[in-house]
Amino acid sequence: MATNTNYDYHSTEHAAPVSPYGSGDPYYIKSSGYIASGPVKRPKRNWLKIGIPIAILVIVGAVLGGVLGSRASKKSNSSSGGNNSNGNGNGNGPVKNGLGRFPTSTDSFYGMPIYPSSTNSALYGQPTFSTNAKNAWPSDTFSPGSPSATSVRPDRPRIIAPAYRWNALPNLIANDPYLSAWNESIFMNATDYFNAPPVKYNLDGDSGILDNSREIKMRIKAFSYAYRMTKNTKWADRAWDEIQNAVSSNFGPATDKWNTKHFLDTAEMVAAYAIGYDWLYDVLNDDQKKQMRDNMILYGLGPGKSVFDGSIVDFGWWKTNVTGNWNCVCNGGLTLGALAILGDDTTGTAEFILGQTIDNALNNCVNGVTTDGTWTETANYWYFGTTGHAEMASALLTATGSHYGLLDRNAKLRDTGFFHMYAHGPTSLFDYGDHGPNKFSSTSNSIIFYGSEFKIPEYILYQRDQRDSAEPWSMFWYDPTVAGAWWGGLPLDRFFTDDTDQWASMRSSWTDNNALYVAMKAGKNVGHQTHNDLDTGDFVLDAMGTRWAGELGSGDYLSYQYFQSDAQDAARWLYYRKRTEGQNTLVVNHANQLVTASPTIKSGTSGTTQNLGTTVFEVPDKSNAFFVADLTSAYGNVTTFLRGVRVLNKRRQVLLQDDIQSSGSIQWRMHTNATVNAQGTSADLDIGGKKMQVKILNAPNGASFAKSDPVRYQDDPALPQGQTDQQNPGVSVLTIDLPAGQYSLQILFSPQWNGMSSSDFVKPSAVPLSSWTVDSHN
Ligand SMILES: *[C@@H]1O[C@H](CO)[C@@H](O)[C@H](O)[C@H]1NC(C)=O
Ligand SMILES: *[C@@H]1O[C@H](CO)[C@@H](O)[C@H](O)[C@H]1NC(C)=O
Ligand SMILES: *[C@@H]1O[C@H](CO)[C@@H](O)[C@H](O)[C@H]1NC(C)=O
Ligand SMILES: *[C@@H]1O[C@H](CO)[C@@H](O)[C@H](O)[C@H]1NC(C)=O
Ligand SMILES: *[C@@H]1O[C@H](CO)[C@@H](O)[C@H](O)[C@H]1NC(C)=O
Ligand SMILES: *[C@@H]1O[C@H](CO)[C@@H](O)[C@H](O)[C@H]1NC(C)=O
Repeated sequence: MATNTNYDYHSTEHAAPVSPYGSGDPYYIKSSGYIASGPVKRPKRNWLKIGIPIAILVIVGAVLGGVLGSRASKKSNSSSGGNNSNGNGNGNGPVKNGLGRFPTSTDSFYGMPIYPSSTNSALYGQPTFSTNAKNAWPSDTFSPGSPSATSVRPDRPRIIAPAYRWNALPNLIANDPYLSAWNESIFMNATDYFNAPPVKYNLDGDSGILDNSREIKMRIKAFSYAYRMTKNTKWADRAWDEIQNAVSSNFGPATDKWNTKHFLDTAEMVAAYAIGYDWLYDVLNDDQKKQMRDNMILYGLGPGKSVFDGSIVDFGWWKTNVTGNWNCVCNGGLTLGALAILGDDTTGTAEFILGQTIDNALNNCVNGVTTDGTWTETANYWYFGTTGHAEMASALLTATGSHYGLLDRNAKLRDTGFFHMYAHGPTSLFDYGDHGPNKFSSTSNSIIFYGSEFKIPEYILYQRDQRDSAEPWSMFWYDPTVAGAWWGGLPLDRFFTDDTDQWASMRSSWTDNNALYVAMKAGKNVGHQTHNDLDTGDFVLDAMGTRWAGELGSGDYLSYQYFQSDAQDAARWLYYRKRTEGQNTLVVNHANQLVTASPTIKSGTSGTTQNLGTTVFEVPDKSNAFFVADLTSAYGNVTTFLRGVRVLNKRRQVLLQDDIQSSGSIQWRMHTNATVNAQGTSADLDIGGKKMQVKILNAPNGASFAKSDPVRYQDDPALPQGQTDQQNPGVSVLTIDLPAGQYSLQILFSPQWNGMSSSDFVKPSAVPLSSWTVDSHN
């Protein structure tokens, strides 16, 4: 292993030969390959290696404008310079360019951006769109009075990136450090893909060729971008290799190359072809275009048509009552394909598809977002669903002049970017439930599109700092007039109240990787497209740059009947990672929670927002928040059960309380990567030398901590024959066992922050959850 890396302490990394992100990925290590996702820490490596252009920008920026303060010494001088040269306080113009990107890196231990401790009132202003015309996209001359999905703009490209945007792009790149850096990264990635052999066909059981399709889509997008930016035909030629490879004799069975029985694979491949066809239109000859159309119809659009005309039903299950990523991705891919060939296609397939997909997505896909903005499946599936949705809405807008309601039929869709932001702690995602397959072409850049369309500058400002922001869609979705600090004025807490999900997000800062973050969910155990766990009451906890209580993630998608059903007796609920014992919540009688759970919640917050003008944030006194869920209905043999969580002591400590009356035995469980030293009512956790003290307050008789392994109970029902649970290396379970009875179990988490002495910690008084208020523990 390379010496400049700081691998996880589990040494379980699966080193794959290449990064799905290419060498433009700050996580890619040439010498040792890419560290796949999984229960593994991101390698930490010297960001200077790839970050030189950014480093220079940031240093110039610091000199020009920001005053780099040290958080430890709490210096937060106001800026002596850094004013915008055009004086509008919006950070646009040359000074914006000089200041560079806000974070010094996106190469933190967990891949989150690192913001310098700096104060700059001009730069970190109110999130807004400035009226600086110099930085704005020109307006589109194609603006039909009564748009129709089958009436396309006269020029090419028509999908997501019309010609007038390509023409404007070089000048915008020259004036915007984000666009400029993304452009560089895309070329770096494209060069990597250029030098790699075409994607090799790999049918992964029931998961099909989804990885293949998404990787090919990612590559064709990058090659087509590089071609259009340089007009160098080497890029178009390489794209053509990939296009041909996907229909070659080496690639799948002759009759069904794009694997229609797992239709996501088909739809993503159609989207890949659509981008190539449309963006390379001027360089492909008529014969190439005809081949592409024929193959799209044979392997993708034709089967798609049969889904809607009823002639084939077995792979079209996603079209009825499916409000998850499947509906968005399948309708999205078919729509892009149909738009790309519309006018050239003489079979009527494109018209037919466009007459179906939009209504279908309006009735299904858009409802993937609940009334509070949460994605119904999981926080990880949000990436797939919103990518499909955003691509479809954006392509229809650019090609035909309308999104036909895809953006406003569900009025709450506009909140889904906040869902994504609040689901991220300072280390990583509150990644409950299944995590989904590899992402490749699925990113979080949908919120750049939503930010531009809904005029929510915070979305764009947030996402442009993230590590997955560099890809061709961002280049065209980004509104370069955006300015300010996304965190300025943003509440630290948010509560998501839809019955389906119900969850809370509370933190001590938006810009400090060491901040405290606690998120807890209630919600239903069904209605998530069978991607959830039996996990109501589950929580994660971040502090001091580390995740202390975390998730185990997906089981093996190829496990027997993993997705078959979410009924109480479903095979899914036999697997440890999906069972209640695999979550950070209470288990009663060693049994799973009930799928009929229907929790109710209450919450409160001081409403603290983070300051404008600086990345440095000091939590004021009495800045509190709490979330209480009544989880009684999730258990048999439980008379009452309230679980509450709150931040305390200027958000430096957390209290987790369970008020329960149960006729079954109770076990409190929390999964952690820490080494655990459990002694009586106290447990000391250690992760890489950082320490967390966990204490049972007012301990009920006999209550004490123990440590166990993240494995199924011996008295669990057997796994289906031949099936095994996944290993959870490096993870321990902190537990408390109690016999049937009535308890108030109060667990106090005290991260041992730098510079805090024992007298700085508080010991809250005992307050029943039914009496919790914002100020009940001051
Ligand atoms: C390209 O590279 C960047 C890093 O420079 C990475 O974050 C991004 O996700 C890559 N992927 C794509 C699809 O271009
Ligand atoms: C362990 O660390 C990994 C990151 O390396 C994280 O994704 C996971 O959630 C952690 N697991 C637990 C149980 O905290
Ligand atoms: C920044 O601009 C404002 C308004 O133009 C001006 O009042 C202020 O003095 C400037 N500050 C600095 C540090 O140049
Ligand atoms: C985009 O990046 C490529 C590769 O570094 C570079 O050659 C090109 O000039 C850049 N485009 C613009 C408009 O700056
Ligand atoms: C779709 O869902 C609705 C509401 O839950 C239900 O009434 C209807 O029967 C479902 N349709 C199909 C075809 O499953
Ligand atoms: C309740 O407890 C009884 C006795 O232990 C057990 O047989 C039953 O399965 C439990 N019910 C549920 C829903 O857990």
